[in-house]
Amino acid sequence: MKTIIHRVDITKIDNNIINDAAKTIQEGGLVAFPTETVYGIGANALESNAVSKIYTAKGRPSDNPLIVHVSDKEDVKKYVKHIGDNAKKLMDEFWPGPLTLIFEKKDIIPDSITGGLSTVAIRIPSHNIAREIIRVANRPVAAPSANVSGRPSPTMAKHVISDLDGKIDMIIDGGDCEIGLESTVVDVTEKIPTILRPGGITRNMIEQVIGHITIDPAIKPSGEKLIPKSPGMKYRHYAPNADLIVVKGESKEVVEHINNLVIEKKKQGKKVGVIATNQTKDEYTCENIIVIGDRFNSEEIAANLFKVLREFDEIEVDNIYCEAFSNKDLGTATMNRLLKAAGNKIVDLR
Ligand code: TXA
Ligand code: MG
Repeated sequence: MKTIIHRVDITKIDNNIINDAAKTIQEGGLVAFPTETVYGIGANALESNAVSKIYTAKGRPSDNPLIVHVSDKEDVKKYVKHIGDNAKKLMDEFWPGPLTLIFEKKDIIPDSITGGLSTVAIRIPSHNIAREIIRVANRPVAAPSANVSGRPSPTMAKHVISDLDGKIDMIIDGGDCEIGLESTVVDVTEKIPTILRPGGITRNMIEQVIGHITIDPAIKPSGEKLIPKSPGMKYRHYAPNADLIVVKGESKEVVEHINNLVIEKKKQGKKVGVIATNQTKDEYTCENIIVIGDRFNSEEIAANLFKVLREFDEIEVDNIYCEAFSNKDLGTATMNRLLKAAGNKIVDLR
């Protein structure tokens, strides 16, 4: 298949391209587009054939359900049985934006999207290009992250091209994604909502709006033996080709430990990379260092994580070492993705 690639300037959206993308979705095709979190591959959510093409293109297990993207809050009631008070408050506060809510689904939503679950995940993205495509397509749009299953999520069009060129109909290149990590997934089907996947909207931000909520224990770093309620969280994910290890502790000791690991691996003939911060970049002896950003700027670290993992794939290192980051607020999502990418391999020096 020839994949058409269109470049769209977010400050001056070309309606012809939006129409072309929307038409492709209406006709059952697959279109990758930017959202504020990561790039997604969109298909008509009401058409099982179109949805099944997503699973094939991504190589995604069919029990891992997709998020349905809509452009207007009013659409939600067409697809879900009940919108409770907590859900209403969260929709008013955080939509459009990086929050996905899980509701009991109506029959109009095909089982092929939900992996056979009785619930459906819905979100309204805040990215103008994504919202325009969905609005003009005039259909709910199923859109998982636009990467091959298991690879780091795409935050730039070139990541999508590298994973999916030739496998989907169209890629809309709208520049870099601002947040760089996927949306927060919150189950609002129970009285007390539960975070199933940490993301751009933090637990704190949610609790300020609706009071106490819980976190699925299976997604806590200590809970890796439990089965998560969000099917996608059980797979190894976001992984670069290299073997990644996270090192946690006082900055000085972390640097020293990583420098020793690098020497050891190089003796074995391995090509090694280090993910450094502005604060530590001059202290590493390794030649392949990529600076992810300022340790104290959690937005910057989140926005660069997947990009940095992919950069190391491009230079084909065998091993990557990375400092652990703060686990607070947005850091919860960053550390969740980083540890998954590392297959939970962490050295705790404390
Ligand atoms: O930011 C995002 O959410 C991006 C952009 C493109 O919108 N999309 C995204 O989709 O990350 P995906 O398919 O890569 O991740 C969807 C997550 C998976 O962990 C999946 O298991 C979970 O949402 N999910 C979807 N439907 C669910 C449901 N009914 N119950 C529980 N978890 C669900
Ligand atoms: Mg994904």
